[in-house]
Amino acid sequence: DKPVLFMACPLFAQAHALLSAHFTLRHTTENTLAGTLASLSAMADVEALLVTLAMPLDSQAIVRLPRSVKAICTYSVGTNHLDLAAAKKRGIKVLYTPNVLSESCADAALLLMLGASRRALEGLRLLKGGEWSGWAPDQLLGKDVWNQRLGIFGMGRIGQAIARRARGFDMEIHYHNRLRLPPAAEQKAIYHDSLAALAAHSDYFCIACPPTPETLGLVDAALLARLPEGAVVVNISRGDIVNDNALIAALNDGHVAAAGLDVYAGEPEIHPAYRQMDNVFGLPHLGSATLATRLRMAALLRDGLSSILAGKAAANVAN
Ligand code: GLV
Ligand code: GLV
Repeated sequence: DKPVLFMACPLFAQAHALLSAHFTLRHTTENTLAGTLASLSAMADVEALLVTLAMPLDSQAIVRLPRSVKAICTYSVGTNHLDLAAAKKRGIKVLYTPNVLSESCADAALLLMLGASRRALEGLRLLKGGEWSGWAPDQLLGKDVWNQRLGIFGMGRIGQAIARRARGFDMEIHYHNRLRLPPAAEQKAIYHDSLAALAAHSDYFCIACPPTPETLGLVDAALLARLPEGAVVVNISRGDIVNDNALIAALNDGHVAAAGLDVYAGEPEIHPAYRQMDNVFGLPHLGSATLATRLRMAALLRDGLSSILAGKAAANVAN
């Protein structure tokens, strides 16, 4: 008999097919956390559950899980929506999806940089709205990306994949990270030991750090003030790293020329100003959203979970 995997959040048919080869998938028709926990509590045979960013589990939710649960799989690289310590206390391993999505997220970061700097949203609107009256010398003049300084906050796998792409644009790479990288990984990127020093060298400032309690609100008015005049801010990590009101003020007064955002504090609600502003090039949290990557994420969880349930180690355990 295959172990029972409770899908607290449904994925999609191809991903389910990857998982159902190894596990009996149990679905729920509940779409609230309370309803899901209630139906789970009536099941004594569930060995693992799968969640997404859309289903945060705090310590109160985790203590209510049935005793049979040995693992929580999150279909994400970020684990900030789960109380890892509470899970550990109950002997529940949390599996996540590092590495397999880094390249897709880096592609998306470049899209945000280019879209924001070259005013792609305004251009698209002009074109699709049937309002384009022809080429004009000063139409939608943006900012160059090539040959500019790119500051990367968070030089993990995603940050390094962004740097690799940006070198193709002849950008000068600067970064801040908790630890300086060894030279072979640094590839001549310029290290700054503080976020403020990085900001001062960032024509493009790209947030690619893992979300932790320490990064909450770090990109605030004081930090934004350190950016060179007319900088572009890109966020591919989590919305709550940025103070929205501070960024909106900087976008309104032009100190920050544009922002490329994939993530938002309180998403899917977003600050209403972001919807109105022409200089915000925004996507609805699509960083890892390619079919190939989303299938790799499912396969990684499948393999990790099989190992764990067989009493073996897995590399993608977060707690
Ligand atoms: C997406 O933001 C993820 O954490 O995978
Ligand atoms: C633009 O299309 C140009 O030919 O300069």
